[in-house]
Amino acid sequence: MTTASLPPGTLPQTAPSPRRLVPRHSALVRVTHWVNVFCFSLLLMTGAQIFNAHPRLYWGQYGADNDPAWLSLDALNSNAGLRGVVHLGSLTIASTGLLGASKEDGALAPRGFPAWLTIPSYQDLAAGRRWHLFFAWLFAINGAVYLIGGLVSRHFRRDLLPTKGELAPAHLAQEVLDHAKLHFPKGEAARRYNVLQKLTYMGVAFVLLPLMVLTGLTMSPGLDSAFHVLLDVFGGRPSARSLHFICASLLVAFVVVHVVMVLVSGVWNNLRSMVTGKYAIDADGDAQ
Ligand code: HEM
Repeated sequence: MTTASLPPGTLPQTAPSPRRLVPRHSALVRVTHWVNVFCFSLLLMTGAQIFNAHPRLYWGQYGADNDPAWLSLDALNSNAGLRGVVHLGSLTIASTGLLGASKEDGALAPRGFPAWLTIPSYQDLAAGRRWHLFFAWLFAINGAVYLIGGLVSRHFRRDLLPTKGELAPAHLAQEVLDHAKLHFPKGEAARRYNVLQKLTYMGVAFVLLPLMVLTGLTMSPGLDSAFHVLLDVFGGRPSARSLHFICASLLVAFVVVHVVMVLVSGVWNNLRSMVTGKYAIDADGDAQ
């Protein structure tokens, strides 16, 4: 039937359905999320400053200059001048300009991470530590508010805990396939996190972020003498430092994928939902 032949007052089937804003994120989730993003960015850059003071990582109770490091960002002098080299286990990777040796005041200088990635940009361990510890407290308090608030409001149980059906291998495989093809849920399903989001967010909130805090505390001489058990759990300060670095690297990898997913699955709708709490779907259910 053409539009012209529809009975008077009948809308054509193809008329765009009006948009509806539905609640998605509570104020607690939104505020703690953005405080977390701010703290994490500063912790990363001040952490890179601290790392630069000794850009080598070890396992065990002891680790100093001549001990075998599993990762080191080195600067080597050669006939061609200074070269940056990453040693990762038995691998040697040339990294001049980025890791090991990069420009400082216009000239190549030995430094683990480059100046644009550290706060302050010049080498100042004391300033880096002061800023790092300040934001670490803010980050830990913010994380505790998120965890307690999420438990009390049942946010974790309601929104983040995967159901048995979602964990079935066939469902998981389908979600992985849909993600790889950039097919995102529509309709009512778009109002909830999918199982890959749930598992990743749970992993970040309950494993990686707490591990960051605990391995950080283990490196603090004052705190690890009061809670010696931390040193036993993580196998020594050099091991805690290595784990701290690995968790930070995994968080960076998470953030990269997380931001790409936010961009490709509807950037404004996603960002609005994390700012105002409201998410737009068609009145008949489709995500905008
Ligand atoms: C430190 C870095 C970040 C961490 C650890 C992080 C972590 C998280 C977590 C755990 C959630 C789920 C929150 C919950 O419901 O309890 C979430 C959601 C979200 N994040 Fe992030 N995030 C980070 C950075 C970012 C950035 C830079 C953006 C902006 C591009 C962003 C945008 C969002 C959005 C839009 C959602 C909601 C997704 C949806 O509703 O499907 N995040 N993030």
